Amino acid sequence: MSEAKLEAWHEENRKFAPSAEFAAQANAQPSIYDEADANPEAWWRRQADRLTWEKAPTSTLEWDLPNAKWFSDGTLNASVNCVDRHVAAGRGSKVAYHWVGDREGESRTITYADLQVMVAQAANALVELGVVAGDRVAIYMPMIPEAVVAMLACARLGAAHSVVFAGFSADALSSRILDSDCRYVITADGAFRRGAPSPLKPAVDEALRSCPDVKAVLVVRRTGEDVVWTEGRDYWWHELVERQPTEHTPEFFPAEQTLIIMYTSGTTAKPKGIYHTTGGYLTHVATTHHYIFDLKADTDVFWTAADIGWITGHSYIVYGPLANGATQVMYEGLPDSGGKDRWWKIIEQYKVTILYTAPTTIRTLMKWGEEYPASHDLSSLRVLGTVGEPINPEAWMWYREHIGANRCPIVDTWWQTETGGILVTPLPGISVTKPGAAMRAFPGISVDVVDNEGRSVGNGEGGYLVVTKPWPGMTRGIYGDPARFLETYWSRFPGVYFAGDGAKRDADGDLWLLGRVDDVMNISGHRLSTTEVEHALVGHPAVAEAAVVGASDDTTGQAIVAFVTLRLSADDASKDQTEVIEEIRAHVARVISPIAKPRQIILTPELPKTRSGKIMRRLLRDVAENRHLGDVTTLTDPTVVNMIAGLMGSHTGSED
Ligand code: WT7
Repeated sequence: MSEAKLEAWHEENRKFAPSAEFAAQANAQPSIYDEADANPEAWWRRQADRLTWEKAPTSTLEWDLPNAKWFSDGTLNASVNCVDRHVAAGRGSKVAYHWVGDREGESRTITYADLQVMVAQAANALVELGVVAGDRVAIYMPMIPEAVVAMLACARLGAAHSVVFAGFSADALSSRILDSDCRYVITADGAFRRGAPSPLKPAVDEALRSCPDVKAVLVVRRTGEDVVWTEGRDYWWHELVERQPTEHTPEFFPAEQTLIIMYTSGTTAKPKGIYHTTGGYLTHVATTHHYIFDLKADTDVFWTAADIGWITGHSYIVYGPLANGATQVMYEGLPDSGGKDRWWKIIEQYKVTILYTAPTTIRTLMKWGEEYPASHDLSSLRVLGTVGEPINPEAWMWYREHIGANRCPIVDTWWQTETGGILVTPLPGISVTKPGAAMRAFPGISVDVVDNEGRSVGNGEGGYLVVTKPWPGMTRGIYGDPARFLETYWSRFPGVYFAGDGAKRDADGDLWLLGRVDDVMNISGHRLSTTEVEHALVGHPAVAEAAVVGASDDTTGQAIVAFVTLRLSADDASKDQTEVIEEIRAHVARVISPIAKPRQIILTPELPKTRSGKIMRRLLRDVAENRHLGDVTTLTDPTVVNMIAGLMGSHTGSED
């Protein structure tokens, strides 16, 4: 988003106060900020009482930068907290998930009692396969209830799950399996996408060719398509799991038992295995879910429209809502599977009360037109949320008006894979919201905006977002790489957590997130590093050199633009350039994922470099966004830039 635009939005300064009625009944009352400010650790310790502990913690925080331990002498079981305790409290017949398939008419209702049986059986099956506490299990699954069951079954046994988004390639899967030494994989034969089966098992088979230590693969039959079977390694879920005893006696684990490994892109080619532990993480996600979405477990129907392959799904489809005993919608398909009004049909049918999604999706829905939501009864909705990237005020206003009927509070929630749960957000019933502002730190969280030297900026100024105190849901590190953890997050500004985002405090002191300040791109809310994509590009035999930038895009937030020099001369007339470009794009999809396919590949005989040989990315971004080129005096060959700008021609999507 451009500076000028942001200024314009500030000037408009639209504000939306909560209704008195909402405020009176809200879970969040203004006093919680004061309580948390007075003693953040004591506040979090009280929040930990939301959980059922086998042994309640007596310690709260142990902090030895960058290593935090929360509630470390407490013991608990995450799956008991998410499932068993609700059944034990007499809520077994409450719906945990209204699962809605990609294909219309396909749905399943899963109560907490059903979930308990499914998790017990899956846990027993994993035990039979040899899974023990401390193991790592890779999960590569579509959005079906078994994916949640698989996660909870791992948690039940004290094994860490590493969920890999099912849109990732075989290469991406194998590197993640190897990095955290997963010995087990849980997957499905395939998934449904706009009604058609899309295979998953072949990617697992391919990935496992380079993962000899994987002992067993558990496969859910979802599409019924033929699969290649490896005897002695592969097991059908419906054979192994469904013959297991329906009860499983849980063990309890220390609060700092690893629960989650989630790979995410950093600024290098190698994704980082961000890991989270149990007690602090669960406390964080349950607490934030309760206050930020104003969850009333008895009456609400909560829907996070995201995939369990990302942290959003972990925290706000699985652990937060289940710990709070919520009833949810879980949807397998795309927003237009079965028609452009599919979401609105789902909301109408299940009387969804809280919807949580990404700005990129809102912009897509907006493009399709308001007639789709207008043709459905959305009056059940009462809170709307967004996450994943800065939301532009136009999209925020559309969401408010056309989905929320100018009545539902909107919570723009800022967080990261590393933070485990939401850190910066409005609170419904309290905050006077502003379109595009994430507002302020959640109670018990301390954030600041600092300048280059780490000094707090004043109101009306911008800088870098930092978190100044440890929080319960914070990552405990990068799997197998403590040095990188310290260096990436705790070294830019001594003593504080560097998020990698730019932020601004407005005149009222409220926070506006401005996007990444590093080489991390945000494509439709998916996080990718420029280096990761460059790495994939140069892996193609025709590519000599590549530079990737994230250029702003009206729908996807950012889009990948790649500048590529070929091994064969770019003006070689014998070669069809469009064909080469398509080949390279397909190669990137194969190596990383279709989400990493560059929107645009610019073939150029040379890349602009500084005298020290560094590719001038900022400048390429300017070119990709069609901006004036500014100072190019450090270029070895300034004409290269003009040449590249010329190659971009008229097909830039930029509005600047
Ligand atoms: C990055 C983290 C948190 C789950 C989804 C993304 C950006 C996230 C917001 C927001 C502005 C946001 C940041 C952050 N981001 N939420 N509300 N406003 N930016 O998790 O893949 O770890 O990406 O997403 O740039 O650093 P992730």
